[in-house]
Amino acid sequence: MTKQIQIAIDGPAAAGKSTIAKKAAELLGYTYVDTGAMYRAITYKAIKSNIDMQDEDKLTNLLKETSIELKPSPEGQRVFLDNQEVTEEIRSKEVTASVSLVAAHAELREEMVRRQVEMGKNGSVVMDGRDIGTSVLTNAELKIFMSASVEERAKRRLSENKKRGIHSSLEELMYDIELRDKLDSEREASPLVQAEDAIFIDTTSLTIDEVSEKIMKLAKERMA
Ligand code: CDP
Ligand code: CDP
Repeated sequence: MTKQIQIAIDGPAAAGKSTIAKKAAELLGYTYVDTGAMYRAITYKAIKSNIDMQDEDKLTNLLKETSIELKPSPEGQRVFLDNQEVTEEIRSKEVTASVSLVAAHAELREEMVRRQVEMGKNGSVVMDGRDIGTSVLTNAELKIFMSASVEERAKRRLSENKKRGIHSSLEELMYDIELRDKLDSEREASPLVQAEDAIFIDTTSLTIDEVSEKIMKLAKERMA
């Protein structure tokens, strides 16, 4: 008999969390939840609605009246905002530049965490983000904290952006990644921090398959 578990994957920007989380979910037949996409989706709507990124009340109310759905597809997870697909739009530079400001608001996070707890409550889930092990799936059987050097993470994001047709330079991406890591780690509301019971994996010199192998081994141990 194998146990149905919850897997929480946290870490800084472009560490490889979503690639690995998606792969592990596929291999295990679990649901994958990209919580960063949820913060990106509400940021996209806030930009479209001309809302000040510092206005916590307006942003929280906006979220409360917004539906955000994550749907699996063979090409990867698709993101729907009020029933409209925004999978590509939420990866724009504009959204990336504002998302950490929106995500810093405590009340807005409360509503996000409430939704994410609900999404993960039945187990058989792999969820990635910044506060999954510390605030969302606090009893997850497997918690991973993944990181890599800033330069390596910027290089990875650069080639990903190229594929998406987004023009950027390595310097610009290193700046963006460092700034977001700082904002995410220093905010008061559920900051980016390794959970005490999380396992740390440095992916700087590891391939996607190597990281995936490590995580599958740990998951199988927890499921036994
Ligand atoms: O993929 P990338 O590392 O660029 O970021 P993401 O996972 O899409 O998350 C975008 C932003 O959302 C992060 O920089 C955080 O500000 C925020 N976020 C958060 O605060 N908590 C989460 N659980 C997930 C994302
Ligand atoms: O979700 P997060 O922002 O942590 O990172 P990601 O979007 O999964 O990964 C960023 C890029 O790094 C993707 O294009 C992956 O293919 C790549 N990657 C890699 O080259 N080597 C790894 N060990 C992990 C990810």
